Amino acid sequence: MKIVKKISLLRKDLTLLRRKGGRIGFVPTMGYLHEGHLSLVRQAKKDNDIVVVSIFVNPLQFAPNEDFRHYPRDLKRDAKLLKGFCDILFAPSSDELYRKDFCSSVEVKGTDEALCGLSRKGHFTGVSTVVAKLFNIVLADNAYFGRKDAQQAAVIKKMVSDLDFPVKVHVLPIVREKDGLAMSSRNTYLTIEERRQAVVLFQALRSAERMAAGGIRDSAKIRQALEDFIGHTPSARIDYIEIADARTLAPLARIEKDALLLLAVYIGKTRLIDNTLLKVKKLAVTSGY
Ligand code: PAJ
Repeated sequence: MKIVKKISLLRKDLTLLRRKGGRIGFVPTMGYLHEGHLSLVRQAKKDNDIVVVSIFVNPLQFAPNEDFRHYPRDLKRDAKLLKGFCDILFAPSSDELYRKDFCSSVEVKGTDEALCGLSRKGHFTGVSTVVAKLFNIVLADNAYFGRKDAQQAAVIKKMVSDLDFPVKVHVLPIVREKDGLAMSSRNTYLTIEERRQAVVLFQALRSAERMAAGGIRDSAKIRQALEDFIGHTPSARIDYIEIADARTLAPLARIEKDALLLLAVYIGKTRLIDNTLLKVKKLAVTSGY
């Protein structure tokens, strides 16, 4: 595996590989890798001839009061984890990606008005701007994202479709710890006691799945039950609980077809997100004959 820090050098390498007919798979990350990231890299390896992973903690997607400075970083550790799956690790500096006079952005409109965008104004514009830049640098055939960040995946898909990026976006399942907590680089912020309590997110998702499978169609009823349930966990504070169309993420008052339940909950000072598909049992269709 080669570690490349300069855009020009990465472009040179990839042009040569592309000329040989190699399909390029790309996994953008902010590093401090875990099994969630590695599941994307493994899938990229299966589908492509060359795998590029980027590690860049993108300042544009953090608000001034957020954890940019404290976000965990360990390139050596990440490089070790990637060996065998990744061909090129692209780890640019901030100056390399955002030159002094950088003043452009890519905005998918409306992202600040829903879900994570409401409490993280400008976050998704930061994400779409960096991903657009990385897509233009890597020119991959396939790019891989996790369903854990469902709103992010929807924003990227919309950007790719609206702006005709020549890349196929794949969204892969959430990888969880043994007790159900979705893997996240931010889980490292949790104290031992908070880590124990953080499982409440997963338990809430499971209880919503059971309610939907049991025939409850009223979103408000499910949301209220989850608020009560999460409210019993001392270190938990709800940011949002939403039931939304699985494709557009538009809020749904009633669950008539499979819907996505998304939540963001602070455990102590750490904001965690998770989601699950609420499956609606189809009514048995009897033959008209
Ligand atoms: P990061 O949080 O490092 O995540 C990189 C990718 O890993 C994202 O597509 C994310 O959805 C996926 N991922 C994280 N946890 C996962 C889990 N438990 N299971 C499956 N996939 C998981 O998301 C970002 O970085 C950034 O916003 C980025 C897209 C790199 C732009 O800066």
